[in-house]
Amino acid sequence: MTAAIMDGRALAEQIKTQVADKTTALKARGIHPSIAIFLVGNDEASKIYVREKAKACRDVGIEAELFKFPAIGTDILISKIKKVNDDPSVHSILVQLPLPKHVDENKVLESISPEKDVDCLNPLNLGRLVIDSEGVESCTPRGIMRLLGRYGIGLEGKNVVIINRSKLLGKPLALMMLKKNATVSVCHSKTQDLERHTQRADIIVVGVGKPQFLRKDMVKQGAVIVDAGIAKAEGRVVGDADFEGLRGKASFITPVPGGVGPMTVAMVLENTTMLTERQSALK
Ligand SMILES: NC(=O)c1ccc[n+]([C@@H]2O[C@H](COP(=O)([O-])OP(=O)(O)OC[C@H]3O[C@@H](n4cnc5c(N)ncnc54)[C@H](OP(=O)(O)O)[C@@H]3O)[C@@H](O)[C@H]2O)c1
Repeated sequence: MTAAIMDGRALAEQIKTQVADKTTALKARGIHPSIAIFLVGNDEASKIYVREKAKACRDVGIEAELFKFPAIGTDILISKIKKVNDDPSVHSILVQLPLPKHVDENKVLESISPEKDVDCLNPLNLGRLVIDSEGVESCTPRGIMRLLGRYGIGLEGKNVVIINRSKLLGKPLALMMLKKNATVSVCHSKTQDLERHTQRADIIVVGVGKPQFLRKDMVKQGAVIVDAGIAKAEGRVVGDADFEGLRGKASFITPVPGGVGPMTVAMVLENTTMLTERQSALK
């Protein structure tokens, strides 16, 4: 068996075209979708991610303003976010994680207006996800769900193993998959005998950040592999999966780069236009 590749880049391009059409239609009505992106600290990977997100926004006609704070405390950061919350010309707010250790992350995320919270990080939106109420869906998990849908991979009754329990990825994804009637196991660094879980999974989503973490002996024949990991190895961007080894055993697999990453960016764009429409009472 050679796994089919789930091409996140191609699907993201289609979504970007749809978002660009929506943005044009909104502008024709005098509404200019706009996002504020907060980058705090000096994390090199975060700098690249926010630059990519801002560029992708501008490519589809969304105004993107980057607020960069190499050194800032919790309270001042919150006051900056609140200023954008109160600015009606900004529809969407993204705070790039992780925040530096000295910043109280939970307090900062609570300060994002739930109406403008593009990555579902405000506790009200996370709570809405828990109770299946309309809010906003986290970008990376939503991108993964869209990718699975594009390749006709159903979730009902499937055993899913997610190796990640972060609020950006594993936790919201588990809720979204439960809603689609999957049986979900969320694994992490303290999970005992990880292979026992992964070997019985129909679908594995891995987001650990360690190259070659998921090997072919850990998965069953025909499993679907979604690799959300991003790391550098020998100067190249790689994921968590042993891509070549797994290709001979899985039924579908996402590449890195070109899989989950571009879908995350596409969902930032899609969520921004959705939030803009809601705030402009067009939905
Ligand atoms: N493609 C994208 O758009 C996208 C978006 C978000 C993140 N990512 C990538 O995904 C990875 C994780 O990001 P994150 O922000 O979620 O980071 P994180 O919060 O550090 O999450 C890493 C997860 O991996 C688990 N883990 C670490 N070592 C493990 C082990 N030996 N066995 C099992 N689980 C283990 C951790 O468990 P504990 O909870 O016990 O520590 C944690 O849940 C990174 O490579 C990041 O770049 C990609």
